[in-house]
Amino acid sequence: MPPSVVAQMLRAGLYTAIIGRSVRYYQSTASTMDDAAQWARDGADEGAVVVAETQTASRGRLGRRWISDSGNLYFSVLFRPDANALPLLSPLAGVAVARAVRQAAGLYPTIKWPNDIMIDGRKVAGILAESSMSGSRIEHAIVGVGVNIALDTSADPEIAATAASLNQLANADVDRAELLRRILQHLDALYLDLRRGRSPIPEWRRWLDTLGQRVTVTHHGSAETSLAEDIDEHGNLLLRTNAGQLLTLTAGDITLRAASGEPVPYARKPLP
Ligand code: BTN
Repeated sequence: MPPSVVAQMLRAGLYTAIIGRSVRYYQSTASTMDDAAQWARDGADEGAVVVAETQTASRGRLGRRWISDSGNLYFSVLFRPDANALPLLSPLAGVAVARAVRQAAGLYPTIKWPNDIMIDGRKVAGILAESSMSGSRIEHAIVGVGVNIALDTSADPEIAATAASLNQLANADVDRAELLRRILQHLDALYLDLRRGRSPIPEWRRWLDTLGQRVTVTHHGSAETSLAEDIDEHGNLLLRTNAGQLLTLTAGDITLRAASGEPVPYARKPLP
């Protein structure tokens, strides 16, 4: 049996302070989000990572499903953040994944707000942040990452139009263990920075391709087209409506489309 992606990653050396101090690997599980949350309730230390080869009940943002066939990357990381760090975990993870994709796959991703990792207008990775509160106390937060590495999109035209895989785009076999290792290393470095007061938002903003676009936001069934003008220090999107009003969108329950109705186009841009 070939070594698991975790064994391969550890063999190359992780060298992190917090992220990956403990790692669990499953050949198959329902969702690494649930495994990591259970592990958190059982007292796992911050930085614990759950990796799975396949998932049978994986979830994406807004209750969407996330295809979890083998050959791709699926993992969740446990954080025990304070209230200032909590909203920044998702942008932080976006930066970590974007940096790692660039290094390990040699590709040039951008980030579509709030946190889709895109290449040439198609999604190659997604990030899901969930937290557990007890009153106003944060018990833990779990950040889940799914990266399409070998996903076969050809069988489903709908998926082929919106998603792509790194192997396809790189025209080569991307090293999964190396990609995982780099994502965890960047998560570690960025989280240490965050704990010292350095926000990931300035770099995240440079990876974002949404700003300056006219976007249609669908919120509870009603749609409005506005200019994506900026983001604030929490990663919220600031929209200028046609009436000149500035709206703040949190990354909750919205769908973002270009004014034409097409997904917002993402051209390659100079590296941050
Ligand atoms: C998105 O909607 O873009 C977020 C997708 C997140 C998928 C990952 S795969 C690992 C972890 N386990 C899950 O069930 N979901 C996340």
